[in-house]
Amino acid sequence: MKNKSLVSIHDYSKKDYLRIMDLAEEFEKNPKKYGRLLSGKVIATLFFEPSTRTRLSFESAVQRLGGKIIGFTDAGSSSVSKGETVKDTIKTVSQYSDLIVMRHPIEGSVRWASEISDVPIVNAGDGANQHPTQCLLDLYTIRQTQKKLNNLTITMVGDLKYGRTVHSLIQAMSYFSPTFHFVSPQELKMPNEYKIFLKEKNIMFEEHKDLNEVMKKSDIVYITRVQKERFSDPIEYEKVKNAFVLKNDMIEGTKSNLKILHPLPRVNEIDQDVDSNQKAYYFKQAHNGVFTRMAIISSILGLK
Ligand code: CP
Repeated sequence: MKNKSLVSIHDYSKKDYLRIMDLAEEFEKNPKKYGRLLSGKVIATLFFEPSTRTRLSFESAVQRLGGKIIGFTDAGSSSVSKGETVKDTIKTVSQYSDLIVMRHPIEGSVRWASEISDVPIVNAGDGANQHPTQCLLDLYTIRQTQKKLNNLTITMVGDLKYGRTVHSLIQAMSYFSPTFHFVSPQELKMPNEYKIFLKEKNIMFEEHKDLNEVMKKSDIVYITRVQKERFSDPIEYEKVKNAFVLKNDMIEGTKSNLKILHPLPRVNEIDQDVDSNQKAYYFKQAHNGVFTRMAIISSILGLK
């Protein structure tokens, strides 16, 4: 992991996932112990697309480890708005920092940036492609709630076509013999390439149109937002935006270990009443983003 960019979840092995999770646990258990670990290090956060959790949890992680942050939250405030290329931006920022965290709407853009940069790059989401740090915090959260990763039944709900978090998560979970249920509108089904991947790995999956069919079988229900920004036609978005809304009564009679996860942001796919249900775990999941990103940064910089 040392000095290596993290662009896709495939850049890490199963052993790497376990190492990151163990390290995240160490940071969670000892919040004050590592306050100078990143002393003298500068991390750049370049967000060409909006974010709340990913950017702020990275920044919180760096600050908690005693490092410094530079960057922008909007390319409009950078010299990209004057016509500078993304290539020149990355090359320049890599002269000022020890590691770059980058989000960009174009799939493959972060891989390309990692080939130009003089410092490692961490993908904070590239279009509908990958979101590996979200995936690692999801793995951490699943292990934390289930006390294991093997042989779990995971139901994924919502936008399975454009949802980069579900794409990364099925690939990472493939090491742990899961059973998947996919619940989505017809227009937002899991793309064939991921279904082929699962078949090649002999991993069971079923597709459903009704969430109630699978609630009682699930250990994890992973809800995702229908992403308005990925639709070119607003009428198509309107047709599917309210296809699945989780309500409290749908959680009745489910397994005692069930946890409801969501990478967030939520629009209306989880009723606000669910937030106080003890099976709702999405804000704790967001909290885990800080420890997981502490582990990723310190591993890449070779400090842990
Ligand atoms: N989960 C996630 O990526 O959230 P943000 O878009 O707010 O970073």
